[in-house]
Amino acid sequence: MTSGQGGANPGFARGRRLRSTSAMRRWTAQTRVAPADLVLPVFVKQDIAEPVPITSMPGVVQHTLDSLRKAAAEAAEAGISGLMLFGIPAEKDAVGSQADAADGIVNVALQQLRADLGDELVLMADLCLCEYTDHGHCGVVTPAGVVDNDPTLDRYAAVAIAQAQAGAHVIAPSGMMDGQVAAIRAGLDSAAFTETPILAYAAKYASGFYGPFREAAEGAPQFGDRSTYQMDPPNTDEALREVAQDLAEGADAVMVKPAGPYLDIVARVADAVDVPVSAYQVSGEYAMVEAAAANGWIDRERAILETLTAIRRAGAGSVLTYWAVEAARWLR
Ligand code: PBG
Repeated sequence: MTSGQGGANPGFARGRRLRSTSAMRRWTAQTRVAPADLVLPVFVKQDIAEPVPITSMPGVVQHTLDSLRKAAAEAAEAGISGLMLFGIPAEKDAVGSQADAADGIVNVALQQLRADLGDELVLMADLCLCEYTDHGHCGVVTPAGVVDNDPTLDRYAAVAIAQAQAGAHVIAPSGMMDGQVAAIRAGLDSAAFTETPILAYAAKYASGFYGPFREAAEGAPQFGDRSTYQMDPPNTDEALREVAQDLAEGADAVMVKPAGPYLDIVARVADAVDVPVSAYQVSGEYAMVEAAAANGWIDRERAILETLTAIRRAGAGSVLTYWAVEAARWLR
C-alpha cells in the first residue's frame, strides 16, 4: 500500500486512513448490492401436494403452485427485481411437449403469478427443454442421440410464444443452440410479442457446478453430456463471440453462467457490451457455501454477501441467486 506522501504523518498508509471506521468504509465503497440487483430462480413442479426440499440445496424447494405464489409475494415484499421460473412436468417425452402446452406447469405458474403480481416483479421464463424431455437433453435428439440444432429451434420458438402468452415478461433461452435467439425473436414477433425482451444465457459453460440443479429440475442427461453445446471452461474469447452473436441475433440482455468461478468472463463481457449483463450464481456455488457454513467452517452471511459483492464488482448489473430474498432482507 502506498503511504501518504507528505503531510503531517507521512508514514501512515493512505489506504488505512480511508478504512478506519465502518462509516468511512461505507462512504468509500465502490460496489454496492441492493435488493433490486437480485433475481430469484424458482422451481415449480406438477402434481405435488407439498413443496419438496432439494437435498443438495438446503433451503431451496420444488414448489407447488400455491407455495410458489407465496414465495413470489415474499420476493416482491423483499424488493428483489424478478423471478426466473423453471417448470418440472409430471410427464416427459422426446420433444418436451409440456414446455409449450398451455396447461403445462410452467405456463400455468406464469399465468397465476402474472395475475397475482401484475408487473411488480419481472417474470422471467427459463427456456430450455431439458426439464421436459425424457432423455434430459436441452433439445430434440437424432436417432443417433445427437442434439439436433435446427429442429430444436422450432421447438424453442413455440415455447417462447407459449411463455409470453402465459405472462412472462422476459424470455431467457438457456439451451445454447446456435441461432436460438434469432429463432425466438422471430417467433415472438410473429405472435405480436414484439415488446417481450430476450435475456440470452449467452456465455454458459459446461460446468460441474450445475450438479445440484439437476436434482432440483430433474433434468440430468440420460446419456452423454452437454459439452457439445455448452462452452468449454478453458475458453474466454468464445464467450465474447457467443455474446456478440446473441446480440446480433437480437438479444436485449445477456447472461454469464456460472458466476463465481467465471468472474473474469463477467468482467470481459461487461466491458464489451452496452446491454444489461446478468450473472447466474448457480446451484453448486450455493451448495458449497451452505455445506461449509453448516459445518461451521465459514461465516455464512458474510460469505454470501462477499460472493454477491464480488459478482457485482466484476461488472454484473444483476445477479441470479438462490439467496436473493434472504440477502435482500439483509441489504435493506
Ligand atoms: C438448463 C439449465 C441448467 C441450469 C440452468 N438452466 C442446467 C444445465 O445446463 O445442465 C443450471 C442452474 C444451476 O445450476 O443453478 N438448461
